[in-house]
Amino acid sequence: MINTGSEAQSKPAVITIDGPSGTGKGTIARAISNWLGWHFLDSGALYRVLGLVATRDRLDISDEDYLVSVASNLDVSFVGMEDRTKVYHNGLDCTLAIRTEECGIVASRIAVSPAIRKALLSKQHAFRLNPGLVADGRDMGTVVFPDANLQIFMTASVEERARRRYNQLKEKEICASLADLSRDIKERDERDVTRQQSPLKPSQTAVILDTTVMSIEEVTDKVKILVRKHGLI
Ligand code: C5P
Repeated sequence: MINTGSEAQSKPAVITIDGPSGTGKGTIARAISNWLGWHFLDSGALYRVLGLVATRDRLDISDEDYLVSVASNLDVSFVGMEDRTKVYHNGLDCTLAIRTEECGIVASRIAVSPAIRKALLSKQHAFRLNPGLVADGRDMGTVVFPDANLQIFMTASVEERARRRYNQLKEKEICASLADLSRDIKERDERDVTRQQSPLKPSQTAVILDTTVMSIEEVTDKVKILVRKHGLI
């Protein structure tokens, strides 16, 4: 979608890439932000940092007031490029700590809360800086940046997403079972799709990309074509 409204024109450009985990959206979003020289927002990392704080402080995740106060003061930054991008929280590198399956599950439970999502909204808007932003997540196109210049929604079969996650973990020499990963992915999808607030779904103007049988290079090339087609380069 090209947004030609004057409001969108006065704001830095945004490309949103949404979809469930394992579709490759994070990898593609980082590659595209690097290619364009734009800022990058991994919105899932914000929910994961909250998950990390909750686990570290042994919080009852239903302690919404506390998590809203943490979310309101969240200091997260992304440093470096592509697969070397590091996530910092309060100046400390938490890149690996937030990537565990446990942290992803806690994050998706926390993400159900409307108050926490609201508290994170202005944090996410603050990433919209010149020359532009590539943001990935679940509701980037539908809720956070509905006036984005280009919105993409990535999908892939559950089996393929579980296989990708399994290979990622294997590379890091972390043991996992394909069946367990499949089950966790389905549970997380179910929570993300059925929640009342900002459920995972494509916006009406999103370009849908099914990456099940595509390589990272093929998806990156396809997105580059879309970026050019939308006049963003
Ligand atoms: O993308 P990632 O797997 O890191 O996100 C972790 C969890 O955070 C997701 O399962 C989802 O529940 C939540 N999330 C969200 N909205 C976003 C990004 C992530 O609800 N924009």
